[in-house]
Amino acid sequence: MIYDINSIRSYFPILGRSVYGKPLVYLDNAATSQTPRPVVDRIDEMYYAHKANVHRGVHCLSQEATDAMELGREAARRFINAPSTDEVIFTRGTTEGLNLVASSYGQLLEPGDEVILTVMEHHSNIVPWQLLASRRGIVIKVVPCLSDGSLDLDAYRELFTDRTRVVSVCHASNVLGTVNPVAQMSRIAHEHGAVICIDGAQGVPHIRVDVQAIGCDFYIFSSHKMYGPTGVGILYGRRELLDRMPPYQGGGEMIGHVSFDGTTWAELPYKFEAGTPDYVGAAAFTRAVEWIDSIGIDAIAAHEHKLLEHTTRRMIDEIDGIRIFGSAPGKCAVISFLIDRAHHYDTGMLLDKLGFAVRTGHHCAQPLMQSLGIEGTVRASFAAYNTIDEADRFIDALKRIAPLLDA
Ligand code: ALA
Repeated sequence: MIYDINSIRSYFPILGRSVYGKPLVYLDNAATSQTPRPVVDRIDEMYYAHKANVHRGVHCLSQEATDAMELGREAARRFINAPSTDEVIFTRGTTEGLNLVASSYGQLLEPGDEVILTVMEHHSNIVPWQLLASRRGIVIKVVPCLSDGSLDLDAYRELFTDRTRVVSVCHASNVLGTVNPVAQMSRIAHEHGAVICIDGAQGVPHIRVDVQAIGCDFYIFSSHKMYGPTGVGILYGRRELLDRMPPYQGGGEMIGHVSFDGTTWAELPYKFEAGTPDYVGAAAFTRAVEWIDSIGIDAIAAHEHKLLEHTTRRMIDEIDGIRIFGSAPGKCAVISFLIDRAHHYDTGMLLDKLGFAVRTGHHCAQPLMQSLGIEGTVRASFAAYNTIDEADRFIDALKRIAPLLDA
């Protein structure tokens, strides 16, 4: 099937705009992707025609809003091949999902129990565990990386002890692009009686995810990085674990029965969904999944891979003093780099003036930066709608600014 890039781009009006009089080239997709028309249209439609609180009213509008939200849950279930919608919980995003697991599953841990993280984690998969460590006296252990940015699997195996209870690891690194062998890591965790939680924020937009094939216990991701609305995240958890876990927040909708003598919890997934959810976002998330499916996640991955290879090769061949961080085999389409000793911020600012949107800084991964001996990088990250022509213009821009940075 032909990858019709013009048709794909036509879904994203923002790609036609300019910044500082230059055509926008959006290469900050690892931070957030742009949103296709059907998703935005669905948000409009929900507000204009179906707005009512969900799971509460007997009236028609409430039923429509509830159905729309539950279709979003089914779309999420299907997208990651979860066994049941009971195991699919809506959150505000990946950060909230990780906090939910650390906070709630964390209550089942004892002082001295161990949690394994990796050096390439985003702060949102470090800090919640540190908060838990200060509350419950758990011990955090960290898997290092090899020089190409792959995880050191031998070191991973050696970190397990009879106190290891949890492994929490990103599916793909937001800095290095490394795709971790999460199925193998899940098997190893289970051999040691630990559960494994996967931060899939950078995984789902680029990799076909099947939580049953991976064999993980939790898989967490955000809608806004996969062409969906912002403010919506998904937490998949195995029923047996979710059943044992205490609620994360209290409020309406998460209860079975409330009295001042004691309260019982709602069935899954509602036990973990206190308060009025972002049902508009959940409804629009369905359209994001449908949009990805209309192209095919494998076709998107192949296209991004071409962009990655092409851009990396040209950067190495044509930009003097380029340093690229992360070259693990099978990495996803994220290029973190520095030019000579130029500060990442200066490079990013000059690129911005030429119309290129990239992220600069530590990318919420300060421990990884420390291990690389740097403060930050410039990061270009690709999505389904980026083109080889944009990649070529990006290289031309780097060649143009490199001498200015040297000066
Ligand atoms: N986690 C997002 C990023 O890497 C925000 O940019």
